Amino acid sequence: MAARFAQIPVLPLDEAFAVTAEFKADAFPQKVSLGAGVYRDEGGKPWVLPSVKKAKEKLHQTPNLDHEYLPIQGSDPFLQLARDLVFGDSSLPSSNSSSNSSSSPSPGSGSGSRSKDNTKPQTKNVISFQTISGTGANHLGAQFLAQHLRPKHVFISDPTWANHHLVWTVAAPDVVQKTYPYYHPASRSLDFDGWLTTLENEAVENDVVILHACAHNPTGIDPTREQWEVLAQLFKRKRLFAFFDSAYQGFATGDLDMDAWAMRHFQTVLFGSGPEPKTETKTKTESETESSATAGNDDEVVVNVQSSTQHQQGHPGLCIAQSFAKNFGLYGERVGAFHLSLPLSVSPAGAYSQLLRLTRAEISNPPLFGARIVQTVLSDVDLRAQWQQDLQTMSLRIRSVRGLLRKAIEQQQQQQQQHQQQQQSSSGSVATAITDWSHLESQIGMFSYTGLTVPQVQRLKEVHHVYLMRNGRASLSGVNEHNVHYVAAAIAEVVAQ
Ligand code: LMR
Repeated sequence: MAARFAQIPVLPLDEAFAVTAEFKADAFPQKVSLGAGVYRDEGGKPWVLPSVKKAKEKLHQTPNLDHEYLPIQGSDPFLQLARDLVFGDSSLPSSNSSSNSSSSPSPGSGSGSRSKDNTKPQTKNVISFQTISGTGANHLGAQFLAQHLRPKHVFISDPTWANHHLVWTVAAPDVVQKTYPYYHPASRSLDFDGWLTTLENEAVENDVVILHACAHNPTGIDPTREQWEVLAQLFKRKRLFAFFDSAYQGFATGDLDMDAWAMRHFQTVLFGSGPEPKTETKTKTESETESSATAGNDDEVVVNVQSSTQHQQGHPGLCIAQSFAKNFGLYGERVGAFHLSLPLSVSPAGAYSQLLRLTRAEISNPPLFGARIVQTVLSDVDLRAQWQQDLQTMSLRIRSVRGLLRKAIEQQQQQQQQHQQQQQSSSGSVATAITDWSHLESQIGMFSYTGLTVPQVQRLKEVHHVYLMRNGRASLSGVNEHNVHYVAAAIAEVVAQ
């Protein structure tokens, strides 16, 4: 038996974590990390958001906060707030009703039941589960869709966050992975035609397409609204399943609504606001009783029933993997959510019970602390306002770094050019052309797809102790006023080789 273990091939460590480990092990004082997508402040240090700090203090002062299990699906008040952030619904506390903050659900008080507010007309049919950050949501979604939508293919952008491929390989090995072109290297822009053509020619009904909700990782290039509109129509016509990965809401533009625009637009195009379905309170069947009892759910299951079957042949649905790692700076707490949006005509009870089953088998029930922090911030008017300011702080700093770095690299290259021109007159060699670095500023979000080649990235590390991903992706929060000239000089040097 031991021999079998000895034969296990050794896999390379995931690149984002390998780069971080190499950086940590480097003793060079001026080393710079532009590897993993984590926010750093102006001093190059991890930043605990002031809103998060205050939420922790508030939790600390809350008497009798227990440490009981959450229900399998997670904290329902947290999920409601997380869902509202995605879909922009009106149950958010408004700044003119501060009483909401005290009447908001207490942290960790998940009842285990789905929303029972049947007074509002229902325009959406969304099931939400708390997950182990965005990765857990991607994983749960892949498993669930592989089993219950049974797509032939999953389409993933080329390039993408590397974990998309791994998650689908591990969680849904029978679904064939295909890529769609996303990036046009020569023009450093979106390959929208290639993307459309691939989906048009190769995707079939119920195929899953992974979409980055905003701040595409790694390119920092998002479709325009007009392009999203074209895509949504294509998804509707071909009945493709949109799987949004939303890891950067609030980070791309600093505006939560703008960053959620694509997801909300797809929701509207695929399902419309729809006729109000007849809502029926159904007595639980035996199997539903069993699954909800496992969830600690003593309530009736509320399902929406629409007599017309026309939607049954309609669009299959869409889903969202939501992470709170970046926009709350809660990397280690692993707070996330999976939202499955179904047509109004489809009862969510079956899907809900299957997601309970998958979650129970995988994690039993999700961790409490991070969800408590997010819930505390989102349900308190003042903390929420502070959080929005924190998002501005982060996104504005990265935007300003983009400009600084571009200017500094271009200055370095001008100096190099002057130097080379002087040498050229004596040696006859040709001067290096100045590279255009405008893409540093036009791309958005945490990353820049710099265009640096693998050997250039290697030289940056070995000669200059500047670490980034092999594909040339730079996590720009690692740049600040203190190191920008060092980084720029290093980049200019490797480009000139
Ligand atoms: C990244 O893209 O660097 C981050 O999202 C960290 C990770 O999990 O890969």
